Amino acid sequence: MKSSAPGKIILFGEHAVVYNRPALAVPVDQVQVDVEVCDSDKPGVWIDAPMVNLQGELSTLPSDHPIGAVILKVFHHLGISPRPNISVTVTSTIPVAAGLGSGAAVSVALVRALSSFLNHSLSNEQVNQLVFEIEKLHHGTPSGIDNTVITYNMPVYYMKSKPIETFKCGKPFTIVIGDTGVPAPTKQSVGDVRRLWLRDSNRFETIFNEVAQISTMARHFIESGRPEHLGELMDHNHEFLQQMTVSSPELDVLVAAACKAGALGAKLSGGGRGGNMIALVDQASAESVAGALMSAGAKRTIITEVK
Ligand code: MEV
Repeated sequence: MKSSAPGKIILFGEHAVVYNRPALAVPVDQVQVDVEVCDSDKPGVWIDAPMVNLQGELSTLPSDHPIGAVILKVFHHLGISPRPNISVTVTSTIPVAAGLGSGAAVSVALVRALSSFLNHSLSNEQVNQLVFEIEKLHHGTPSGIDNTVITYNMPVYYMKSKPIETFKCGKPFTIVIGDTGVPAPTKQSVGDVRRLWLRDSNRFETIFNEVAQISTMARHFIESGRPEHLGELMDHNHEFLQQMTVSSPELDVLVAAACKAGALGAKLSGGGRGGNMIALVDQASAESVAGALMSAGAKRTIITEVK
């Protein structure tokens, strides 16, 4: 039984989304996780996940291991006992800790492949709920946006505890993703923003309200087919993320390089302090902006069309 899941980027509203403000995220299908589950001759649950150097039997892993924890959660949820003799192979082209949702994508593909193999296919809603519980084990207070956009594999306008809204693009637009190569410590940056918010909640509530307006306007421009207006909104969103202290010198250098090379706007994307930035570009200048990002120190770029 096989299953795949895409990566994701947050277009607008990261961090503010943890505080019940809306955010926009889209899947990135140039990168993906693939999971295959099959019967094994050997007794036990054998896991092979080369991208995290893991090869071993489930019971030898620490109980909070990201892949082991997903498998145990699925067994528990489906009431599977004793454990079946199976082999689970996880391969991924999504860079780890880059803000592209690699952890949530592994969980989504694993939950789907495993539950289908065990003849208990789950609905999107059930997959999303289970993966959100796993995200909480690893990230403290996640908003749920990563698991949602990856489970549904569609652009989402996300607000915590609200029914999921997907949105359609009036006109496609092109985004260049630039990876700083610095691991994004999302749990830490989310925790730091919480400490700052607790210390100065008036200031942070104001910042989150400004970001909420940006996300709302961005959705409007996307749906009404005027994506060229998103550039300025990205620049503003990046400034607010800097005020939240989640940018970094490497991210700021790439954002400036993209704009200098002709991008219509740019911002960090995801938890920040490392990981990725995104730039809005005319399709014709995508390659030259990507080249400028590499010259400015990006470790990798991805050009993706949002449709
Ligand atoms: C991480 O991709 C996005 C954050 O807003 C955290 C979250 O929403 O859980 C930084």
